[in-house]
Amino acid sequence: MLHDTHIPVLPGTRLDGRRQPSPRSHRDDPARAWEPTALAPLLEPSISDFIYRTPGAIVDLVRQYGSPLNLIRPDILQRNVRAMRAVLERHTRHHEIFYGAKVNKSPALVRAAIDAGTGIDVSSRHELADALRAGGDARRICASGPAKTQAFHADLVQHGAIISLDSSQELSALEDHLDAGPHSLRARVLLRYQPTLSRNSRFGMSPQDVRDSLRRLALRPQQLDFLGFHFHLGGYAFEDRVAALIELADFIGEARRLSLAPRIVNVGGGLPVRYVESDAYEMFLRAQGPDHYRNRKVPASFYPYGNRLDACAWLEQFLNAPGKDGRRVSDFLAHHDLTLALEPGRSLADQAALSVFAITHVKTLVDGRCVIFVEGSSFSACETWFASEFLLDPILISRDATKPADDVLLAYIAGHSCLDEDVLTNRLIAFPTVPQPGDLLVYANTGGYQMDLLENEFHRHPMPRRLVLDAGGGTRAIPDTLDGDLR
Ligand SMILES: Cc1ncc(COP(=O)(O)O)c(C=O)c1O
Repeated sequence: MLHDTHIPVLPGTRLDGRRQPSPRSHRDDPARAWEPTALAPLLEPSISDFIYRTPGAIVDLVRQYGSPLNLIRPDILQRNVRAMRAVLERHTRHHEIFYGAKVNKSPALVRAAIDAGTGIDVSSRHELADALRAGGDARRICASGPAKTQAFHADLVQHGAIISLDSSQELSALEDHLDAGPHSLRARVLLRYQPTLSRNSRFGMSPQDVRDSLRRLALRPQQLDFLGFHFHLGGYAFEDRVAALIELADFIGEARRLSLAPRIVNVGGGLPVRYVESDAYEMFLRAQGPDHYRNRKVPASFYPYGNRLDACAWLEQFLNAPGKDGRRVSDFLAHHDLTLALEPGRSLADQAALSVFAITHVKTLVDGRCVIFVEGSSFSACETWFASEFLLDPILISRDATKPADDVLLAYIAGHSCLDEDVLTNRLIAFPTVPQPGDLLVYANTGGYQMDLLENEFHRHPMPRRLVLDAGGGTRAIPDTLDGDLR
């Protein structure tokens, strides 16, 4: 379906503010990457160059490793760590970043975070084992997830990792584990508080449970080393974290009256990522309607892809915000000699991964709508399974750049399974030329919960491959596994 489209088509924007470089072919390959017209992803300059200057290299990688293909840039995660740490160093005396390992299954990203000096936030025995194998210091591993089995507790205690206790029942389970072991067994714990703003959540303790737990911890200082408090909030407003911290202030006083020594407040993750340019994003939201979706449904909510603040600006604002008694958050932390801990996932993975899908065919349906089929499924770009959309246009790489681009194709994108709901995007996306079988769609910035959260072997398709790209934007790639062998 070639159309004059009503979809807002905007000039693309890149992080460095430059226009798309003129396409250049890789070796003798005439591949060309086309800049999206509506929701162009913001791209780190070396990623932009990789896609737009060497699209043939991406074609070669897919030829060799198959589709979908996940490409990882651990050096970018390390740059994100350094940027975040620079803000923390300006505003706090003590801080700790725990990389939220749940955000992506890549061992290279975990290793990169450890090499950049972060701790690791783990949510399972398996994430713990991976962090240890990647060289993580167990005492700088924090288990924040609420679903801890006995075996997970045992591992955490054995290694001396930090355990964030989600409920008084979890405290009892941990006490049972300690009682059953040798006298020397000791656990390092935080109490996970449920801020007023997340009273509907099933995670964290009520104020009464926190008070009761503090009293119980005070009775067993030999077995339970109480380190401080933790919370994690949905949403992305720094103001909500400030409000939660104000609520925690009373418990800090209460703990000290019980002769406990809180020294950490872990304010969780949720630092924002800017995926697309803010004005373009807002314009898109204003203009969109049911006709812009294959299922004629505008999703009820989206991740705020057009955030105006990036993670570092957000952190500055958080630390400078007036908190308890009008004191800035950074002053409050200094006054109480507290370490500020963060457990960012998405924001550390920002720009650190790409997912590439090969197009198998383009089909016009009975009602005239067009669908692009890809080799791979929405399990590898999974926002539609959460009744939402990954609101970045994919970048089309045509293998034959000579195709005329005289009109716009509007299409949604479907995976290779037998499920009608297996769509990477319900949104009708404008393409500047008709994709051909073997052309590629590159989804940028998929490192945060997109590329592999739901991936599986449905229809016995092998798991997608994951490759680590050269630091700085080279086109060389090596397999990303713990042992270095190819899955
Ligand atoms: C307890 C906890 N900490 C940290 C995170 C990481 O959040 P984000 O990836 O938004 O930074 C999550 C995400 O769900 C979480 O549940």
